[in-house]
Amino acid sequence: MNPPVLSIRDVSKEFGPDVRVLEHIDLEVAEGETLVLIGESGSGKTTLLRLFNGLTHPSSGEVCIHDEPVRVKDPIDLRRRVGYVQQDAGLLPHWTVEENVGLVPRLLGWEPERRTSRVHELLNLVQLEPQQFRTRYPIELSGGQRQRVAFARALAADPGIVLLDEPFGALDAITRHELQRQFLSLKQRLNKTMIMVTHDVDEALQLGDRIAVLKEGRLLQIGTPVDLLNAPAHDYVVQLLRHQSHGAHA
Ligand SMILES: Nc1ncnc2c1ncn2[C@@H]1O[C@H](COP(=O)(O)OP(=O)(O)OP(=O)(O)O)[C@@H](O)[C@H]1O
Ligand SMILES: [Mg+2]
Repeated sequence: MNPPVLSIRDVSKEFGPDVRVLEHIDLEVAEGETLVLIGESGSGKTTLLRLFNGLTHPSSGEVCIHDEPVRVKDPIDLRRRVGYVQQDAGLLPHWTVEENVGLVPRLLGWEPERRTSRVHELLNLVQLEPQQFRTRYPIELSGGQRQRVAFARALAADPGIVLLDEPFGALDAITRHELQRQFLSLKQRLNKTMIMVTHDVDEALQLGDRIAVLKEGRLLQIGTPVDLLNAPAHDYVVQLLRHQSHGAHA
């Protein structure tokens, strides 16, 4: 069997002596798999996600990409290989859409023509008309359009791994469903290895190949949607699943 693309072994994370954010986490993500990380606010989702692009480092334990520790990787190489959609999009406000999407290619030293053509390709992929959108600033976009730009930016250097932190979090239900639908269609076409954070159980059941449930820094269960529905390992998982929309996705 192939080694996992992403793995975490016995990882704990503390911010100072009193703030224990992650406790003894183990998990693996296989090639092409989408793992959804679900948990309430403050449970450690963003912290866990950022271990994989080196924006956070564990207090103990090991974080690996293709069995190589993240801590020994070159930061620019990590940027190329790991796309990141930050919580609330995280676009640079004084940069245009084109500059934001072209950020990683610029760091990698791509020629301007290659960058421009890649930006056009990506804006088309996320269904934003390049001529109309490329010179706009983030403030001139709707929330859903900003999320699409953030998604395009994460895909710019064609990374094999994509980390998404509540990419559809702040959107109204209709826009969210539309972007989830596009996400599923992109997922089928692009074959990326992904971790996506959400606190929406419907989204987790719909988009995750597997789901990891985090509570107060502990991993309570990790399994397919069917595993969780048929054999919830913890009362908290039962409660969480009660919050799914009536009759959805089961
Ligand atoms: N740099 C930091 N220093 C101190 N505490 C931190 C730091 N970053 C995060 N924390 C704390 O760690 C805990 C987990 O934060 P994290 O951002 O991972 O939560 P989350 O699950 O992503 O929450 P949300 O759903 O609100 O985004 C929180 O209690 C937070 O206050
Ligand atoms: Mg978060």
